[in-house]
Amino acid sequence: MAFPHDFTWGVATSAYQIEGATRQGRRAPSIWDRFSHTPGKVKGGETGDIACDHYNRWREDIGHMKELGVGAYRFSIAWPRIQPEGRGWINPEGLDHYSALIDGLLEAGIEPWPTLYHWDLPLMLEERGGWRSRDTAWRFADYAEAVIRRIGDRARHVATLNEPAVTSWLGHGIGIHAPGFASERALLASIHHQNLAHGLAVQAMRAHDGGLRLSCVHVGAPVRPAEPERDNEEAADIFSTFWNRAFADPQWLGKYPERLAEPMREWIEPEDMAQIHQPLDWYGINHYSPLYAARDPEGPLGVRIAAPTPDRPVTGIGWEVDPSAFAETLMEIARRYDMPPIYVTENGLGQPESPGKDGTVADHERIDYLRAYIDTLRQSVESGVDVRGYFAWTLMDNFEWAEGYDARFGLMSLAPETLNRRPKASYHWYQQLIDSNGERL
Ligand code: FCB
Repeated sequence: MAFPHDFTWGVATSAYQIEGATRQGRRAPSIWDRFSHTPGKVKGGETGDIACDHYNRWREDIGHMKELGVGAYRFSIAWPRIQPEGRGWINPEGLDHYSALIDGLLEAGIEPWPTLYHWDLPLMLEERGGWRSRDTAWRFADYAEAVIRRIGDRARHVATLNEPAVTSWLGHGIGIHAPGFASERALLASIHHQNLAHGLAVQAMRAHDGGLRLSCVHVGAPVRPAEPERDNEEAADIFSTFWNRAFADPQWLGKYPERLAEPMREWIEPEDMAQIHQPLDWYGINHYSPLYAARDPEGPLGVRIAAPTPDRPVTGIGWEVDPSAFAETLMEIARRYDMPPIYVTENGLGQPESPGKDGTVADHERIDYLRAYIDTLRQSVESGVDVRGYFAWTLMDNFEWAEGYDARFGLMSLAPETLNRRPKASYHWYQQLIDSNGERL
């Protein structure tokens, strides 16, 4: 049999992308509320104000997941719902909301996999320096502990941060995500402070309950030199070191990768590396496509992300399709971090899409993509990489950050006015796949 009988099949979402209801339940604004409301930052001026209105429709969404047959649901908890000011006062309404969601999931036989931070920093913390400030690491640990006290008895697999490399590069290095800094110093500070936040939060949660299964969710991909420009090998190496190792190395190996050791020095205080280097129970990896990098004296670390080589197959939003890059990514994690149990916490295809005459979306490109990537996953498992689960990104079309609502990744579409959920062809395909434990690819 290809996949172990206890392999986890799930779907993933994140709070700001689906919840909407940004003013309900005493939630305060996050950096993404401000960023998306700043003209010119998000395509079409779109925001997450309403999104999928999941905050009010979560019962219905659990129904769709139950029907789909997933065994686990990866979602994120909105820090500004739990601690509207980012510190101090804990909002009981925020905790009640996620506690009810978790009970609903468990009743439906779905394991809750919360991520504590998926990019929606409380705006009031940003005003105190956000990830550029050391203090934010301790604020995050307090928040993590408050959440775990309430839900840790039922949510056993918990991730600290989602893709801290994206927060650092896009949010602090080049400014196309919130909070919108384009500064190498902001980039470096945000790397270290997120690492510290992760380590302190893991310790705070473990002190409360030693049996929790804790980790961090990383983005990962092979980085190739961009063409047709020449001499980009070094740029690719620099960017790969940052993208794939700036967080995983300190967290799993207790040190920054060599190339980053010098630039990081300024931010590290004695004991920091030990605080960051905590035992972890699994490795979360989000993978979509290989990346390309080019030299750029203006860019942070002297590099920039470049477009895929022309003629490579790409999705409707220009992301290259190459399952071999997925295999490479999994293999590299297994090798470098000594065979941790791996969960693929996100993978999927995005494209502009519209329903056919009958109202349904025949998303055969997505089915082809998922089939090829899950087949690669199967081969990796067979060759001995310890992958324990796979979460498709994402349950339904949602707010895709700076891309607004046009880059659609969902297994379900949303009707424009009513927001009614409608399974796409890929939903039915994934349903069969799960039902056969990965046999019916
Ligand atoms: C990942 C993010 C997720 C979603 C997908 C398409 O980088 O974690 O929120 O935007 O990309």
